[in-house]
Amino acid sequence: MSGNILEITGLTTRVSGYTILDDLYFSVEENELRVLLGPNGAGKTTLIDMISGRYKPTGGKILFENRDITGLAPHKIFKRGICRKFQVPNMYETLSVFDNVMISLAGHRLVVQSLFHKHTATDQDRVVEILEFIGLVEKAGFPADALSHGERQWLEMGMLIAADPKLLLLDEPTTGMTEADKQKTADLIQRIAERHTVLLVEHDMHVVRRLGNFVTVLHQGGILAEGPLSDVVANEEVRQVYLGQGKFSGA
Ligand SMILES: Nc1ncnc2c1ncn2[C@@H]1O[C@H](COP(=O)(O)OP(=O)(O)OP(=O)(O)O)[C@@H](O)[C@H]1O
Ligand SMILES: [Mg+2]
Repeated sequence: MSGNILEITGLTTRVSGYTILDDLYFSVEENELRVLLGPNGAGKTTLIDMISGRYKPTGGKILFENRDITGLAPHKIFKRGICRKFQVPNMYETLSVFDNVMISLAGHRLVVQSLFHKHTATDQDRVVEILEFIGLVEKAGFPADALSHGERQWLEMGMLIAADPKLLLLDEPTTGMTEADKQKTADLIQRIAERHTVLLVEHDMHVVRRLGNFVTVLHQGGILAEGPLSDVVANEEVRQVYLGQGKFSGA
């Protein structure tokens, strides 16, 4: 078995005659925190869509733990241990922060069953542990819709952690956050990555700088550069691609 938890070969996605992902080869090692960079429209979200099963690729293969998951339905991919965070958090707005994490922890049980099910002390302890981890223990009793934008992102990350994923896919989780919240999120992602493999799409270079040891730059559906962050930001082609987008200012 290779050290790669995710191995993508020849991945191609065409939509209405446009090639969005173009014969892409990409892999992520187990326990790695990989940052995916690339200008707008490079295909980053599409790649996440393919890995999480939202859309089926036109060609190529996606192996997860050396098993073929290409084109599987999203719930089957989730069961294999791949969780995806959406830009708009997915949660029960009127339920409390605590209950949202509990529902996620209860996993396959139906929502209603999980709310009225007698939770074991272990379940409750685990929820509190997760709330502490994401910094929301003081808001445990608040309804989800009373949370700030940043807090909602952290709650969703807590809900994902409750599902104990092997691979966590995060697509621009810091979008729209204040600088302070971005830093907190970077810190949270770093702690998540101590226990889970993480593939993070991130535009904010301050966040990337804090997290990105090894980065992949996507451009026009293919890999433009890959390697340690310091090498990649010095790469002339990468700088050209980002010119005008102001993404590497201060890089
Ligand atoms: N369903 C679709 N139909 C047609 N074109 C699409 C579809 N989804 C994505 N695209 C196009 O594919 C390209 C890649 O889009 P994608 O959303 O993956 O880029 P991205 O790297 O995530 O960009 P951003 O940084 O803006 O989020 C874009 O040119 C986009 O317009
Ligand atoms: Mg995107």
